[in-house]
Amino acid sequence: MTHSPVTTDPSPAAVGIPNRLVGKRIVVTGGARGIGASIARRAAAEGAEVAVLDRLVDEGTAFADETGCRFSPVDLTDHAGTVEVMDAVIADLGGIDVLVNNAGILRFSPLLDISVAEWETTFAINTTAMLVTTQVAAKAMIAGPDPAGHRRGTIINLASMAGKTGGAGQGHYAASKAAVIALTRVTALELGPSGITANCLCPGYVLTEMGAATRTEEDVALWSTYSPLGRLADPADVAGVATFLASDDAAYMTGQALNVTGGMIMH
Ligand SMILES: NC(=O)c1ccc[n+]([C@@H]2O[C@H](COP(=O)([O-])OP(=O)(O)OC[C@H]3O[C@@H](n4cnc5c(N)ncnc54)[C@H](O)[C@@H]3O)[C@@H](O)[C@H]2O)c1
Repeated sequence: MTHSPVTTDPSPAAVGIPNRLVGKRIVVTGGARGIGASIARRAAAEGAEVAVLDRLVDEGTAFADETGCRFSPVDLTDHAGTVEVMDAVIADLGGIDVLVNNAGILRFSPLLDISVAEWETTFAINTTAMLVTTQVAAKAMIAGPDPAGHRRGTIINLASMAGKTGGAGQGHYAASKAAVIALTRVTALELGPSGITANCLCPGYVLTEMGAATRTEEDVALWSTYSPLGRLADPADVAGVATFLASDDAAYMTGQALNVTGGMIMH
């Protein structure tokens, strides 16, 4: 029996959150739904100017109407088009302080059956698009004012627990997310001297549309037992950590791959 719980966020107002992101201009890719929407919503609630990019035009437009975030449609696998949209969005925001590379896809296929086309599609969105948006954003951050010894900007990438552990039936996905962890470290190493930090998040199992079509009650029950907390993640569980990384409280953290897995893995 299929079972597709997709959670909704608690109202930011009800959570009593601080205003840690006032004055920050934030771009979130894949922000029309799921973890990206939760990050965008939370960032806006903490005072940021937020622009969301997504290929889902109706969902993105509705999200912008509801939250006051800006929305730009783009297919991030169109890498030339992505550069154009990123340039326009950053110009519209008047600069960029935080890039959240969140957009991603998950496809299931046994290793011996993965086609090169499937592999390349997964990498085009999960990894290559991240390089492209990082290049545009980092150049804009470097061109911005130098806050003399403080952080000029930060990049937050969505990797996955699968990028550390692998995942049976997820060869293309796990490999693309391991590449995200490596790309994050290179970003931290190369851009640190320019005042830019980069970290990635490695969520475990988050209740979003991703994987919902094949999710069963048995899956949810089994995976819940892998966490000492006995439950799967809400998008807001990931958004809380992303918001911390976006805030100046995380100014001295860079090159890290943080698990947000409810303790499913501890390395
Ligand atoms: N859900 C999980 O259990 C889980 C676990 C670990 C990591 N992650 C990662 O978190 C991120 C967000 O996942 P989610 O669970 O919110 O998934 P989701 O499918 O709900 O949302 C992904 C978003 O990315 C957008 N997107 C996908 N391809 C795109 C493209 N080519 N161009 C523009 N936008 C595109 C989608 O339209 C969607 O809005 C992904 O990178 C995913 O790999 C998710």
